[in-house]
Amino acid sequence: MTKQQARIYRTRTDLQAAIAAEREKGSKIGFVPTMGALHDGHISLVEKAGEKSECVVASIFVNPTQFAPGEDLDRYPRNEEGDVARLSAAGCDLVYCPSVEEMYPDGSLTNVRVEEMSDLLDGIHRPHFFYGVATVVARLFIHVKPDVAVFGEKDYQQLQIIRRMVRDLGFGIEIIGGSTWRDADGLAQSSRNAYLSEGERETANAISSALHRAACRLHLGRPVSEVLAEARAFILAAGFTKLDYVSAVDPVTLQDLEEGPLAEGQECRLLAAAWLGTTRLIDNIGV
Ligand code: PAF
Repeated sequence: MTKQQARIYRTRTDLQAAIAAEREKGSKIGFVPTMGALHDGHISLVEKAGEKSECVVASIFVNPTQFAPGEDLDRYPRNEEGDVARLSAAGCDLVYCPSVEEMYPDGSLTNVRVEEMSDLLDGIHRPHFFYGVATVVARLFIHVKPDVAVFGEKDYQQLQIIRRMVRDLGFGIEIIGGSTWRDADGLAQSSRNAYLSEGERETANAISSALHRAACRLHLGRPVSEVLAEARAFILAAGFTKLDYVSAVDPVTLQDLEEGPLAEGQECRLLAAAWLGTTRLIDNIGV
């Protein structure tokens, strides 16, 4: 049976009317926010939302407030037609494609800041980023009012910040993390992988190899400081041109762990960000 084409809405008013009709039928609403340029990882999030709700809404919005001047806002890949076809095939019912004016009405002054957690790790290198993300996700939540929302673990810091925002502001939305999708050589799928040249693509999996190796070494009881130093050296030796960080943090607070070996049963998340030429890649794994 061919799947129905998802219905596209461009204004909050039209979207909310469609969602109200779904709620009338008794449907629970699942939501997957995206910036488009969808890959298999996004599709798995849509499928996960479908397991949790009768009506799945996805948004496609390249959010200008999470890009600093000089970042890749203008060249960020856009393919609405292809994205809607993939979303429809994955069982998405409604697609929200708002304009910048719809998300940020003229004269908007209100932003959301999840303090502390937004100023660590990626926040050190992209100070504007998580404030833009929290602001747009809060606005999308207010437009969609979902019961459940699914975010990829690939953007682990983002996922934890959104969990915290939902808790602090009492949104009453269940936040679910979806596993990172990887190519056969381990490279985490990302819309930005499209920027990599053939040679860079061959090097790119070193970041996930370094993290897996580091996770094994931590399991073996090696000190955190030693394991992180090895991982940093491995990524740079593989050909990455610049390293922003490799860190071992508490999975919930994102605070750096002590330098010694992990305590028995201690949870840890390893995160890394590094550059291949002009492309910045991030990855993370649980230990
Ligand atoms: O992860 C993303 O694609 C974006 O940061 C999000 C959550 C859609 C907000 O613009």
